[in-house]
Amino acid sequence: MKCFSAACLVAGVLASNVAMADADLAKAKNCMACHAIGAKVVGPAFKDVAAKYTGQKDAEDKLTQKVLRGGSGVWGAVPMPANAQVSDAEARTLVKWILSLK
Ligand code: HEC
Repeated sequence: MKCFSAACLVAGVLASNVAMADADLAKAKNCMACHAIGAKVVGPAFKDVAAKYTGQKDAEDKLTQKVLRGGSGVWGAVPMPANAQVSDAEARTLVKWILSLK
């Protein structure tokens, strides 16, 4: 594919806007009350989650359900409560973003 500079610039700007939007969504949905990208808070660092599930193709489905319903026992005894404030689509968007963090 040929990449002209103006098109590349637009693509780059769009991509960074999308990343920002996902981080903002995580903040808006209160995920960041218990999580940080690079450090453990109440829940695991999102970068650690991404590293743990790298290469597992069912991870996106599994983690989307976990975000929606909550659960415990993977990272420790502290449970994540169900996140009733997010829709299925929002949970999937957030999980995709988390899994893209490296
Ligand atoms: C009240 C605190 C709290 C909130 C709010 C919270 N989490 Fe969590 N989260 C946790 C804890 C604790 C764990 C570890 C659970 C475990 O060990 O199984 C966790 C685990 C996770 C995992 C990894 C699950 C696994 O099985 O490996 C993901 C992904 C995640 N959270 C995403 C989110 C997203 C997205 C939101 C916002 C919609 C969110 N969390 C909100 C506390 C929270």
